[in-house]
Amino acid sequence: MEDANIYVLIGEEGFTRLVGAFYSQVPKDDILGPMYPEHERRAAEQRLRDFLIYRFGGPEKYIAERGHPRLRARHLPFHINRAARDRWMQLMNNAFAEAALPPEAEQLLRAFFEQMSTFMIQAAPAPTGTIAT
Ligand code: HEM
Repeated sequence: MEDANIYVLIGEEGFTRLVGAFYSQVPKDDILGPMYPEHERRAAEQRLRDFLIYRFGGPEKYIAERGHPRLRARHLPFHINRAARDRWMQLMNNAFAEAALPPEAEQLLRAFFEQMSTFMIQAAPAPTGTIAT
C-alpha cells in the first residue's frame, strides 16, 4: 500500500481515533506526562493528528499552520532518550490496539513510527574533558 492511500482508507476519523487513544494515556505516564504541558495537550494532539493526515495523503492543514515539519529539530528541546522513545512506541502500540484500524494501515503506520521515533533519539553529550571526534 502507498503512504498516500492511508488517508483514503481510514479518513480523518481513523487518525483522530488513533491519536486520541495515544494522547489519553499521556497525562498519567511518568516519562511522557511531564514533557507535555497540560494546557498544551489538546493543541499537541491536534498537531500530531494534522501532521499524520498531511503525511499520509490528506489535506495539508498542518503545513498551512506549522510550515515544514522539521520534526527532529522540533523535538530537540525534549531530551528524548531510548527509554522515552520506547515508552512513546508503547503508548502508540496501545493506541493501535484500541483504534482497531485496518491491518494494512496499521502495519504501514507502525513501521513509520518505529523508524521516526528511533530517529528522534538524541545522542548523549560526550563527557566533559573528552575530545569530540
Ligand atoms: C520518540 C518519542 C517522542 C517523544 C518523547 C515526543 C514528544 C513530543 C513533544 C513533547 C511534543 C510537543 C507537543 C506539542 O506541543 O506539539 C511533540 C510534538 C510533535 N511530535 Fe513528537 N515525540 C516523539 C516522537 C514522535 C514521532 C515518532 C512523531 C511522528 C512521526 C512525532 C510527531 C510530532 C509532531 C508532528 C509534533 C508537533 C510539531 C509541531 O508542529 O510543533 N513525535 N513531540
